[in-house]
Amino acid sequence: MQITSFNQYEEDYKKSIENPEQFWGEVAQNFQWRKPWFKVLSWNFNEPDIKWFEGAKLNITENCLDRHLEKNGDKPAIIWEPNNPEEESVTLTYKMLHERVCRFANVLKRNGAKKGDRICIYMPMVPELAIAVLACARIGAVHSVIFGGFSAKSIADRINDSQCKLVITADGAYRGNKQIPLKDVIDDALIGCPTVEKCIVLTHVRTPVSMLKGRDVWWEDEVKHVNDICEAEEMDAEDMLFILYTSGSTGKPKGVVHTCGGYMVYAGYTFTNVFNYQPGEVYFCTADIGWITGHSYIVYGPLSQGATSVLFEGIPTYPNASRFWDIVEKHKVNTLYTAPTAIRSLMSFGEEPLQGKDLSSIRVLGSVGEPINEEAWHWFDEKIGHGKAPIVDTWWQTETGGIMISPIATVTPTKPSYATLPLPGIQPILVDENGKEIEGNGVSGNLCIKFPWPGMLRTTYGDHERCKQTYFSTYENLYFTGDGCLRDEDGYYRITGRVDDVLNVSGHRIGTAEVENAINMHAGVVESAVVGYPHDVKGQGIYAFVINPEMHGEAELTKKDILQTVTRVIGAIAKPDKILFVFGLPKTRSGKIMRRILRKIAEGDTANLGDTSTLLDPGVVEEIIAASKALK
Ligand code: WTA
Repeated sequence: MQITSFNQYEEDYKKSIENPEQFWGEVAQNFQWRKPWFKVLSWNFNEPDIKWFEGAKLNITENCLDRHLEKNGDKPAIIWEPNNPEEESVTLTYKMLHERVCRFANVLKRNGAKKGDRICIYMPMVPELAIAVLACARIGAVHSVIFGGFSAKSIADRINDSQCKLVITADGAYRGNKQIPLKDVIDDALIGCPTVEKCIVLTHVRTPVSMLKGRDVWWEDEVKHVNDICEAEEMDAEDMLFILYTSGSTGKPKGVVHTCGGYMVYAGYTFTNVFNYQPGEVYFCTADIGWITGHSYIVYGPLSQGATSVLFEGIPTYPNASRFWDIVEKHKVNTLYTAPTAIRSLMSFGEEPLQGKDLSSIRVLGSVGEPINEEAWHWFDEKIGHGKAPIVDTWWQTETGGIMISPIATVTPTKPSYATLPLPGIQPILVDENGKEIEGNGVSGNLCIKFPWPGMLRTTYGDHERCKQTYFSTYENLYFTGDGCLRDEDGYYRITGRVDDVLNVSGHRIGTAEVENAINMHAGVVESAVVGYPHDVKGQGIYAFVINPEMHGEAELTKKDILQTVTRVIGAIAKPDKILFVFGLPKTRSGKIMRRILRKIAEGDTANLGDTSTLLDPGVVEEIIAASKALK
């Protein structure tokens, strides 16, 4: 199933469009099924109702673990690199990983978990996180991993939305020189989570934690009570595999649902192709398993292909800006898959951190999460790849399950800042505001996908209507991505950014409405409006316009109070970079905030505000501009 020439890509692409069922049916043969499907695909984008590999039975962990045991049992599956470089790294072979997953799966059962139950995972980037994820899949429980940067309230909302029965966490996490008290955060969250019966706590930093009798148990104790034999649960191809919450243009994050069969095929197929993975190579994806990139390209994709994957606990700048390069040298990394924000941040340290580092093992580079600017692309290409490693700029989303538009390493000619061409099976289309297709090349529009692919979301948990409204109602019979896109003269795609009210801050998706709701919860705040603005390292920064007539002490202190509120309500990742106190917001006569104007002000482009005649009170704009100029 690996594509090795551009000719083959073109042939496969053609086949995948002309006969998608035959194409994906053949790809799926490369995986292990307990029972084959009777129908490859049935679909309807209006409902939406999408089924892949109907009737087939499988367990994804048999594909990620068991099937490698005989030939590759002693091959490293995961190489764990701890936050502290002085500490030893840990290698888990496929045999060891299989054993630990089975053992922990028995721990889950012992604590009452069974097929279909939802389990929340809130953990540091340690091997036990991957083990917890796979153990859920082993017994057919649905995991909902929450990124370690989210607050207690965010966790509680997510746990309650999917009625999780169990939580898996750790006492704490290391992130650079910081320590994050994960269990404390979970304790706060669980005050408002009546469905949670058990909480399994891994010892990692050995910080004091409260352990509630009857609810909380230690990971290390539990594994002593069970053996490591656990038959995998037989799952239907369309049974739920996991839920992953993501932000949209409305306030509440939604639980994107992925199912077992299609997701497995898509994650595995895209992994092996996009990165041109070769047996024995070491692959390093710097994402966190709390996001979709970690799900698909640290856990399921690489493991389903028997790959060796580096799992890194820390951050690129700890203990210094050489850390990534030290890891590359130490583990002889062949593929490095990271985010533009990390590249830009490391670029800013200059060449010194690269001095004397041996990066000669690198063969393929990857980028994900946000548009990569040309400067970062060239730096990555020259300084890290030495002009020899193809860069795969991979465009995709939590909802797509896997990479959609991307070069195929060593196959597709790359072009700086372009995600280039759709992978086989992916049928992108650009539409105008009215949903009319924009044909030809040298055009731009809103990016939609017109045909299903196996890795696509099936629903949003507990609210199918919301899934329909968000993705399938904007344009008839199309999946709407929320991204703007251009297609150049060569037919190459370049993603230009979100066209809805979703921000992309350091590759993290954050809804403006979500941040506004959090700010509005602060006592004293009357109203707020949040927009993004270009930020050198983060890609986008968060700019909040806030009406708060009564300051508590100095304005600067009140700003800090507001930041604290946002940290409590969402998490530190959603903290505005700039807060501007204003007396009014630019609104239309019907009361709608004109964000277009606020975006211009946030960008510092106040000379081109466009038409302001429909504003209820144009004077407000003058006042905001004056105040914004005084803001540092
Ligand atoms: C953006 C991350 C440009 C895009 C896998 C998308 C990108 C959102 C790229 C999804 C890319 C992701 N070039 N933009 N290569 N990759 N995006 O759900 O706006 O966290 O809609 O999934 O990130 O973010 P999510």
